[in-house]
Amino acid sequence: MILLGLSNETVALYPVLLGDIFTKVRNAFLNKTDSQLIFQNAHDTVIWAEPDLLADLIINLVRNGFQSSPEDNQVRVSFEKSDVVYCSIKVSDRGRGISEEDIIHIEEPFFRVEKSRAKVSGGTGLGLTLCAQIAEFHNTKLDFLSKPGYGTDVSIRLRLYSADDEVLSCV
Ligand SMILES: Nc1ncnc2c1ncn2[C@@H]1O[C@H](COP(=O)(O)OP(=O)(O)O)[C@@H](O)[C@H]1O
Ligand SMILES: [Mg+2]
Repeated sequence: MILLGLSNETVALYPVLLGDIFTKVRNAFLNKTDSQLIFQNAHDTVIWAEPDLLADLIINLVRNGFQSSPEDNQVRVSFEKSDVVYCSIKVSDRGRGISEEDIIHIEEPFFRVEKSRAKVSGGTGLGLTLCAQIAEFHNTKLDFLSKPGYGTDVSIRLRLYSADDEVLSCV
């Protein structure tokens, strides 16, 4: 839980190829096939990020997606350029979903939806607390869209790198 000791000032963001982040995430799930864990092709999309932290965030979301789903279900990692400035990365599962009243608390430390089940699976309830903190380091937040019984989408909106950014940083 070393991350909880970091302050905003200690995290620098760099222009990073989104595809490189997706590769880090893919390498964390070598036990999953390409039809279980599906990535949209990121091509040459470049975002502002701290690559290891952002990869950890997505890994946590993907892990939650698999943990909430039946054995052979898929988890998808996709992205959308909402405009010329931002890009949303989305992790989608078709698992058990999260109720509206649980979503309100889901980023709280040690919060677990199914207390008895979580005890067996050994979850700490800290995964999404860390994800929320990593999102904050990227000046953004997590967005949850979920329907119990149907699945969950978790999105994070990040700034796209553009040539203008370079000009700005030279001024
Ligand atoms: N995609 C999801 N679908 C259903 N439940 C989820 C999802 N993501 C998180 N949860 C639930 O929210 C709670 C908090 O998640 P998290 O902070 O990741 O806990 P942990 O660190 O124990 O994995 C857990 O009970 C988890 O099962
Ligand atoms: Mg988790």
